[in-house]
Amino acid sequence: MRVLAIESSCDESAAAVLDESGGLLAHELYSQIALHRVYGGVVPELASRDHVRKLLPLVERALAAAHTAPQALAGIAYTAGPGLIGALLTGAALARSLAYAWGLPAVGVHHLEGHLLAPLLEPQPPPFPHVALLVSGGHTQLIEVRGIGRYRILGDTRDDAAGEAFDKTAKLLGLPYPGGPELSRLAAQGTSGAFHFPRPMLDRPGLEFSFSGLKTAVLHALRGRELDACTKADVARAVEEAIVETLTVKAERALEQSGFDTLVVSGGVSANLPLRAALANAAARHGARVYYPRIEFCTDNAAMIAVAGLHRLRAGQHQGLAIEARAQWPLESLTPVGAETHS
Ligand code: KG4
Ligand code: ZN
Repeated sequence: MRVLAIESSCDESAAAVLDESGGLLAHELYSQIALHRVYGGVVPELASRDHVRKLLPLVERALAAAHTAPQALAGIAYTAGPGLIGALLTGAALARSLAYAWGLPAVGVHHLEGHLLAPLLEPQPPPFPHVALLVSGGHTQLIEVRGIGRYRILGDTRDDAAGEAFDKTAKLLGLPYPGGPELSRLAAQGTSGAFHFPRPMLDRPGLEFSFSGLKTAVLHALRGRELDACTKADVARAVEEAIVETLTVKAERALEQSGFDTLVVSGGVSANLPLRAALANAAARHGARVYYPRIEFCTDNAAMIAVAGLHRLRAGQHQGLAIEARAQWPLESLTPVGAETHS
């Protein structure tokens, strides 16, 4: 079985071709970062307009690179939500139309399920059940994953997501959008301990997160201070350490509480190397193993949508002719695929 996948939920336009036995045959991506940078964040209307321009050529390139004619496809998967509604609609309309023209089934994929299943593209995929730490620009969640489509949220953020905390504090330091990777690069030059920011909600039991206080703390720390290169790097270091420690302690707690010995980390922030190092140490303390997507599939891409789509199409799941897109879509409401795995 071979599927084409399209992703357009935010500021990345992407297309991929995945084959059940041959693996990932092609993945194409166009990032709109340069388009949004001057505004300091994603401008939804510009994102939609750019997806319209870029998606079809990306689909054509992916099919050509995969030496795949439309007749060889078993279906088309597209990101149906959650995300920016206009951006989602561009990909959904294109996928649904191509599927209609080519006589194929089309399946709408949950963007976060894509992130959760991205590590299945790696040579050693994670076993089920596992705990997933999903850390992106819009989400920070600890999830019990018992199988594909079997998700239970163990902990969520009460306000900002981890990626958002990176991006907002980076902005305060004058770094360009998206701030996460920029802040992390700067933090590597900073001195640990020069500043100390609160670890939100670490002193409380449970698996909830709260990151909105961090940007206020940074704002206070910067007040009346000259923002030289050294200070900026020290602040960046302290921000990164606060976020990394908070995520690590809660992930460790989730492993303990679930009794599972596998941790999956995905979403844009999972590309963060100090986070990976801290989680490796934490997992080792629990005799657990950590799995990640490869770095390029941590942030948004179509390969991860293809994985989720392939599993769902193979299970006979697809939708009718309506173009489906949802700005909000609870992860726990998804239909399970296949049998449940018990620990
Ligand atoms: O998963 P993603 O591409 O988009 C969403 O679904 O939100 O995640 C993007 C987020 C941004 O907030 C970005 O700053 C952050 O991931 N990010 C990072 C790193 N790479 C991306 N944050 C910290 N360190 C990184 N290396
Ligand atoms: Zn994402």
